[in-house]
Amino acid sequence: MSSTTHSPWWRSAVIYQVYIRSFADGDGDGVGDIAGLRSRLPYLKSLGVDALWINPWYKSPMADGGYDVADFRAIDPLFGTVADAEQLIAEAHEHGIRIIPDIVPNHTSDEHAWFQAALDAGPGSPERERYVFRPGRGPDGAAPPNNWVSCFGGPAWTRLPDGDWYLHLYAPEQPDLNWQHPDVHAEFESILRFWFDRGVDGFRIDVAHGLAKDPELPDLPPRPDTAHGQPLHHAQHPHWDRDEVHDIYRAWRKVADEFDGDRAFVAEAWADTPERLAAYVRPGGLHTAFNFDFLMASWDPKDLRTVIDDSLAMLSGVSAPATWVLSNHDVMRHTSRYARKTVARWVPNQRYQPEGTVDLDLGTRRARAAALLMLALPGGAYVYQGDELGLPEVEDLPESVLEDPIWERSGHTDRGRDGCRVPIPWSGQAAPFGFSPEDAYAAPWLPQPANWKQLTVEAQTGDETSMLELYRTALRLRRENPALGDGTMTWLDAPAGVLAFRRDAGFVCVVNLSGEAYQLPDHSSVLLASGPIEDGVLTTDQAAWLTV
Ligand code: GLC
Repeated sequence: MSSTTHSPWWRSAVIYQVYIRSFADGDGDGVGDIAGLRSRLPYLKSLGVDALWINPWYKSPMADGGYDVADFRAIDPLFGTVADAEQLIAEAHEHGIRIIPDIVPNHTSDEHAWFQAALDAGPGSPERERYVFRPGRGPDGAAPPNNWVSCFGGPAWTRLPDGDWYLHLYAPEQPDLNWQHPDVHAEFESILRFWFDRGVDGFRIDVAHGLAKDPELPDLPPRPDTAHGQPLHHAQHPHWDRDEVHDIYRAWRKVADEFDGDRAFVAEAWADTPERLAAYVRPGGLHTAFNFDFLMASWDPKDLRTVIDDSLAMLSGVSAPATWVLSNHDVMRHTSRYARKTVARWVPNQRYQPEGTVDLDLGTRRARAAALLMLALPGGAYVYQGDELGLPEVEDLPESVLEDPIWERSGHTDRGRDGCRVPIPWSGQAAPFGFSPEDAYAAPWLPQPANWKQLTVEAQTGDETSMLELYRTALRLRRENPALGDGTMTWLDAPAGVLAFRRDAGFVCVVNLSGEAYQLPDHSSVLLASGPIEDGVLTTDQAAWLTV
């Protein structure tokens, strides 16, 4: 695909996240798949997105929804075949839509051939050197090698019957790879080429900040918020966001540059400061990284403005574009997050479990305004499937259906991420709401709430007040308007609680986060508003795009 401007596509793209298990089920087994996704490409085209990020579709025992990959060169039979993937890529390209699969370099599945070989070969073998195996501590080696903890709860180490321990920063079924081993580098560069050869336009890099570990594997110091210890300087954290990780991505960048057509990476890198995040996207490194600070911000004008300013300042210092995101498959859907009167700021490295009464009308109003804010900011943006339908988090899934490993590993104290992964409602009055074909032989893998009949694509299509039509119009205007996407912005004077900024001379975005009605500044037209505007007044939690 040729780009019509000199700015590469990834600097301004709107990328739609397809959580493939929950997007569209083509074969009736209750799980989304490539056939379902192919059948919905016309929908995605009409929505107006530029690219799809597809969560892992590789062969996997699904201990963590596919983030436990057994074979990176095979598609899991649940989703289809490599030939299906090739067909999807070709068809998407015909629609002008790019394809970005996930790649998971921090760990493999415990069923990956390398890990199986490591198990068979035993302690001290070269096969074990591709992972992080160590003897335990204490007289009989019964204590884990260090005090690291799994992101899903519990220790980050599991002991084998032969006495060796292995590291897993996530589930025990996800052993961490040893990125000091040359085989690991060579294998991943080969996997990148395998998929680039099949036409993918880039990759989303899972846990991009986790690959490099301190070879000494030192204990974590006591938490900074306890009485002991100081906050860690990030470069010294034994396994997160270490400086050495960038060597890996400089090599990956060279691989991407071997291919034509502007292939691009986006890093899932949780960095504690905008400076640390910007390091991933320096010249010669990755192209883009998610700005999670925006997703973590509360619904508060000062907080949002600070996040926007800090992100843009740091990224422009390295000439990289921002990539804004409100929701994804790991976090509470923002319609529900914003449905609490006071939206708590997200604390990094902690699970978000908000409290308070849920007012979905409030959440939806704010989500509409947030969409217009996000899509007007300089750079690219991510839309998580269902954002465009205003889907809320399903907070009351029965415990018996929960699949996220967090539920078990937290000792049933944290319900995990299934509530944002419920299959998409497409049409009809009852589950499966068009997610599965008429003759499906299994129910959707997570139950859909009955009242989602109001939120189906079918119900919202053509309803000018719907979230779907708001997104469609916003994405169309964004494509048509050269002021949007990549570029710069300038804040305008506005009363406390109102965010107002100009893109080029003619385009202004205004968001009212104050408790009071706000009279819009002089404008020639309202291009789009998140709610009805009467007498030029923007009410609380409303946003508007203006030409001036
Ligand atoms: C990333 C993914 C998440 C997964 C984890 C382990 O954070 O987004 O879904 O569980 O990595 O691969």
